[in-house]
Amino acid sequence: MSSVLGVDSQPRIFLGVWINWSKGNVLGSTLTVTQTNGALLVAFVALFITFAGTRLWRISCFFLHRGYSASGPQDGIYHQRQAVLKNSDNATAGLISCHFDMGFNAPSEKRFLYRRTTLCAPLVTEGYKGFRNFSESGAKSSYAQYSYGATLSSSDTQGNVTYIYPQLSVTDMFGKNKSRTNIPEYTLGYSYANVINGSLAHNRAFTPIDQLYRSDADVSVFFLSSNQVISPVAIEDPWYSAHQEIPGFHLNFTGWHNLTLGGYFGDEPAAVLGCAKQYQICYPDKGGKPSQCSRFGGKQELYWLLTSLTQNEEQLNRTRWSIMSALTGNELDGFVQTLGAASLTSRYSLVSGIQGPLPDNQWQVDVEHWHAATMVAIQGSAVDAASGPSNPDMRKFWAAPSNDQERSVCNNQTDSSAFYEGSTPEIRIRG
Ligand SMILES: *[C@@H]1O[C@H](CO)[C@@H](O)[C@H](O)[C@H]1NC(C)=O
Ligand SMILES: *[C@@H]1O[C@H](CO)[C@@H](O)[C@H](O)[C@H]1NC(C)=O
Ligand SMILES: *[C@@H]1O[C@H](CO)[C@@H](O)[C@H](O)[C@H]1NC(C)=O
Ligand SMILES: *[C@@H]1O[C@H](CO)[C@@H](O)[C@H](O)[C@H]1NC(C)=O
Ligand SMILES: *[C@@H]1O[C@H](CO)[C@@H](O)[C@H](O)[C@H]1NC(C)=O
Ligand SMILES: *[C@@H]1O[C@H](CO)[C@@H](O)[C@H](O)[C@H]1NC(C)=O
Ligand SMILES: *[C@@H]1O[C@H](CO)[C@@H](O)[C@H](O)[C@H]1NC(C)=O
Ligand SMILES: *[C@@H]1O[C@H](CO)[C@@H](O)[C@H](O)[C@H]1NC(C)=O
Ligand SMILES: *[C@@H]1O[C@H](CO)[C@@H](O)[C@H](O)[C@H]1NC(C)=O
Repeated sequence: MSSVLGVDSQPRIFLGVWINWSKGNVLGSTLTVTQTNGALLVAFVALFITFAGTRLWRISCFFLHRGYSASGPQDGIYHQRQAVLKNSDNATAGLISCHFDMGFNAPSEKRFLYRRTTLCAPLVTEGYKGFRNFSESGAKSSYAQYSYGATLSSSDTQGNVTYIYPQLSVTDMFGKNKSRTNIPEYTLGYSYANVINGSLAHNRAFTPIDQLYRSDADVSVFFLSSNQVISPVAIEDPWYSAHQEIPGFHLNFTGWHNLTLGGYFGDEPAAVLGCAKQYQICYPDKGGKPSQCSRFGGKQELYWLLTSLTQNEEQLNRTRWSIMSALTGNELDGFVQTLGAASLTSRYSLVSGIQGPLPDNQWQVDVEHWHAATMVAIQGSAVDAASGPSNPDMRKFWAAPSNDQERSVCNNQTDSSAFYEGSTPEIRIRG
């Protein structure tokens, strides 16, 4: 199908009879037709159903099981903070099947499983926060600095400072800019330390302090600043925590009833969330259960995790292609880095700088959203890698499949993203 611009608006889809190995040899026989023919087929099926009176279609929802780390130590005890990213409860993300979740249609002996676990917790700032003054055109400005490990770009004089952010009392923030020409917004800062082969990768952004360092996981820290965002009620979520008031300041809502509520501002110039992310690749047995697994490691180690498994060259080629094309780019960090504060679900109820009510575990809701969004992106990339970019000018940047295994993976790609959303009806004819 071509659009007016002459650009392929649809990926190349295999037309004809193929075997869907989710269902096996017999039930899996599937006919893929063009959209036009499909419409006719659906109409025919509707008629056929009426006559045969048999229930021939079913809606299959696909649930991707995922667990999420939820245990968040939230008090200021030193060793509890240490526990945060080291021995915290391992609520593990489910294994993702390349076949069911990513749509690489293949018989069971050609599949692999991929696991990403993400363990996050709000970090205490006491003992890790300092203040310093900078002179800006004569005026002194105060900044809060957070020390979870030195950034690679910083000079030694800054010690272990990871992030600095303006430190203003709420009265200052409001007093100086009362007109509020800008709509108050969150600011989300971020830094990361990836591992490779058991030590920190050279292309990391910061070197975590001992309490955060892990040799078998990529570590990220996220810094959330509420700025002048006001909440009519105090926020108890540890990451969004807001209890500061300006004496005499209230929010007035006029309407059917006039309502006067408090005005609460964020407690921390930049509240900190730490995450440890781990990856694992497994080959399944015939029943789909993992039978051979790599150790857990960082994202940049995926290739070595893969080559640590016992496999033949054909298997290696096939899995490597899938990993490189769909898995490596779609990361929590990239998502947050690209969208910034727009990646926060709290923004759905942020109107004109006033934050609607947030649950006490809002930080978990955010992390789950990041996770789900990147899962959907993985499925999208799997399809993109197989079909190539729709813009012909972009094709020169696209690594086409280069061996038999890669071509086979691409030609057997099904689009599973619809299943992730769990809403697409699956039509099967068994007349
Ligand atoms: C999760 O559990 C696995 C297996 O028990 C372990 O190897 C891994 O290090 C744990 N991950 C985290 C983040 O603690
Ligand atoms: C920054 O300047 C203010 C006002 O001059 C002063 O009270 C404060 O102690 C200074 N802070 C630091 C860390 O030097
Ligand atoms: C007030 O607004 C000006 C211009 O919009 C900005 O440069 C300044 O940083 C703001 N001051 C504070 C305290 O937010
Ligand atoms: C990883 O470390 C081991 C032991 O230090 C070394 O033998 C191996 O070559 C390293 N692998 C890579 C890919 O750097
Ligand atoms: C920075 O952190 C490291 C590791 O936790 C520690 O050994 C070092 O003393 C710290 N440096 C400073 C300047 O605090
Ligand atoms: C709300 O109303 C009170 C009393 O009329 C007033 O003092 C206050 O400034 C109002 N608050 C805002 C944010 O306008
Ligand atoms: C609400 O406040 C407005 C402005 O202060 C006032 O004109 C109006 O009468 C009030 N409405 C009610 C229902 O009290
Ligand atoms: C695996 O991929 C490499 C590089 O594309 C290719 O040279 C090799 O022939 C492939 N192996 C098999 C068994 O096809
Ligand atoms: C799909 O995979 C099967 C088995 O792995 C292979 O025989 C077949 O050639 C592939 N289909 C296409 C269109 O390449």
